[in-house]
Amino acid sequence: MSLRVIVVGAGLIGPRHAQSVISNPSTELVALIDPAPSAATVAAQLQTTHFPSIASMLEAIPKPDAAIVCTPNHTHVPVTQELLASGIHVLVEKPVSESIESGHALLAFAKRPEHAHLKLLVGHHRRFNPYVLKTKQILDSGALGTPIAINGLWTLFKPDSYFAAPGDWRRARASGGVIPINLVHDIDLLHHLFGPIERIHAEKTRPQRPRPPHEAEEGAALTLRFASGVVGSFLVCDATPSPHNFETGTGENPLIPPTPGGAGADFYRIFGSQASLSVPDMTRWSYDGRAEKSWNQPLVAEKFEVEVGAKPFDLQLAHFVDVIRGKAEPSCSGEDGLRALIVCQAARKALETGETVDLDADLFGTD
Ligand SMILES: NC(=O)c1ccc[n+]([C@@H]2O[C@H](COP(=O)([O-])OP(=O)(O)OC[C@H]3O[C@@H](n4cnc5c(N)ncnc54)[C@H](O)[C@@H]3O)[C@@H](O)[C@H]2O)c1
Repeated sequence: MSLRVIVVGAGLIGPRHAQSVISNPSTELVALIDPAPSAATVAAQLQTTHFPSIASMLEAIPKPDAAIVCTPNHTHVPVTQELLASGIHVLVEKPVSESIESGHALLAFAKRPEHAHLKLLVGHHRRFNPYVLKTKQILDSGALGTPIAINGLWTLFKPDSYFAAPGDWRRARASGGVIPINLVHDIDLLHHLFGPIERIHAEKTRPQRPRPPHEAEEGAALTLRFASGVVGSFLVCDATPSPHNFETGTGENPLIPPTPGGAGADFYRIFGSQASLSVPDMTRWSYDGRAEKSWNQPLVAEKFEVEVGAKPFDLQLAHFVDVIRGKAEPSCSGEDGLRALIVCQAARKALETGETVDLDADLFGTD
């Protein structure tokens, strides 16, 4: 029996999720929900039924099994609560909530006994990117030995048009800035690869844009400490022409051209006791096969192949199906989604106060 799925929100990303639902043999797209009149046309193109609200959908068709929430950030919590209250499993786009407080409220709501059988996942879909899947597999296999450190980059240049109305929220401090918009993705991936971050320090990059109208940060150099003992440094900056970022390196985002000429420039370097790895060229450096493990020996370079086949959105949906059917635990739970937000808020605090910020690794009492 295929799962009956609705997509809530028919803007930029909703139809992409809807296509995944249509192409997955285990799911059936039963409705597209969006109050905007233009959504009816989108629904027609997807050959599904359009409803302006969840309530009107529930009155008209049998209750769906699952929903993918693709609405603006400030609506994630009320929309997700409405779906859970109706007995529907939810995959909500990132960020899980607009604020830490509303995120905690949502998690508490999802844990109520009457909702305990329902699944809540957060759409940090990069966890399903083939380069990330391969990196996780390499780390988990022990091929690098004990992980010691991570050095990461998200550096790229955003033009003025990106910050012009209606996108002017991107330059406001409350809603914009490179930390909540871009760094949040890398923080989630770093959590996925190395576990929770427990300490963070940050130094601002020198501003390149006029202030005003720009208010939000353009970049930061971060020092990270993970609860596992791994340490990290991360440079994030959206005001420099550079290929060293996830999108250019993996070619995942159709709007950001991949590195010209093939293998992407590195955005992560991972250092272990036995070997190091750069991502996404996936080169492992070691002294394997040499007379001894020593800096006097020539390093051995080995390349891991990455199969860039299935789309991360499709893999994420397949995972959602497995979680609903009890075959898997959520890769990115509500707690994971909120943890990434909390670390981003700590990065902001460190940036603005100059202080090192400590975080409780056991934020939800579940570790
Ligand atoms: N995973 C990713 O890489 C990725 C990429 C882009 C966007 N996103 C996330 O997806 C979400 C949507 O982003 P977008 O760019 O598609 O936004 P968008 O503004 O293009 O579309 C949002 C749509 O939601 C509709 N909407 C608003 N309130 C609603 C409600 N209560 N019920 C139903 N529909 C409602 C709007 O009418 C609009 O059509 C955001 O949270 C964003 O952060 C994630």
